Amino acid sequence: MKTRFILAAALTAALASPLQAGEKNMQQEETFTDWLFTFSRTKEVKAVDNEQYTEECGSCHFAYPPGLLPTTSWEKLLAPDALEDHFGENAELDADVLSAIQQYVYPHAAEKSWHKRSRKIANATAGGEAPIRITEVKYIKRKHHEIPKRMIKGNPDVQSLSNCNACHTKAEKGTFDNDTVNIPNFSEWEDDD
Ligand code: HEC
Ligand code: HEC
Repeated sequence: MKTRFILAAALTAALASPLQAGEKNMQQEETFTDWLFTFSRTKEVKAVDNEQYTEECGSCHFAYPPGLLPTTSWEKLLAPDALEDHFGENAELDADVLSAIQQYVYPHAAEKSWHKRSRKIANATAGGEAPIRITEVKYIKRKHHEIPKRMIKGNPDVQSLSNCNACHTKAEKGTFDNDTVNIPNFSEWEDDD
């Protein structure tokens, strides 16, 4: 009886603590139900769960989940002097901040993740190909090549394929499946894949 009670108490504590922490700070800690949802339903890409990363790398664009590129790509993007000229913008960071970002990003890169889309990206770049754009990964290019330019560049609410979250309504959750796509101003887009 006693053992069973201790086990139950331990389990309750284990389940309750992430929930409580999640209520206090939704940004930082995903709740247990969120985790379970992500794990069981989508298994897409691990959503960004690092506040510093979201702050530093999500101010100009969607904070891309590390699982969307292999380590070698991130190493190029986050090399000591690379951020000074980041796609024509200065995104330079202090050395200690850069180091913290690297420590978050590298262990979550595509080939180190078991999430479905990360596996596809890891396979598509397994030959040593290391584009600095997610939109240059073969798998991602193939998934979007049928979308006409007027729906992307010519679309004021999208402008660039790099703006994942303009069309992928659950991008912040790491979900990119066809069912959650909505191209703004072109609601008639039909998936024929
Ligand atoms: C000062 C603004 C700015 C900041 C800060 C910034 N970026 Fe960018 N980033 C850009 C621009 C501009 C592009 C190009 C977008 C386009 O082509 O539409 C870009 C593109 C990217 C791409 C390629 C997207 C694609 O096309 O697939 C990645 C990956 C990326 N950034 C990662 C990061 C990371 C990681 C950080 C944080 C260290 C960061 N960015 C911070 C401006 C910024
Ligand atoms: C112009 C809107 C738009 C933008 C911007 C966009 N996508 Fe997509 N994406 C789509 C559409 C539409 C599809 C579904 C294509 C189809 O029907 O096969 C898709 C499909 C995908 C798929 C495959 C989903 C599946 O179920 O097979 C992935 C993964 C994906 N996008 C990731 C991204 C990422 C990462 C970015 C940003 C770097 C991005 N997309 C930017 C519209 C967009």
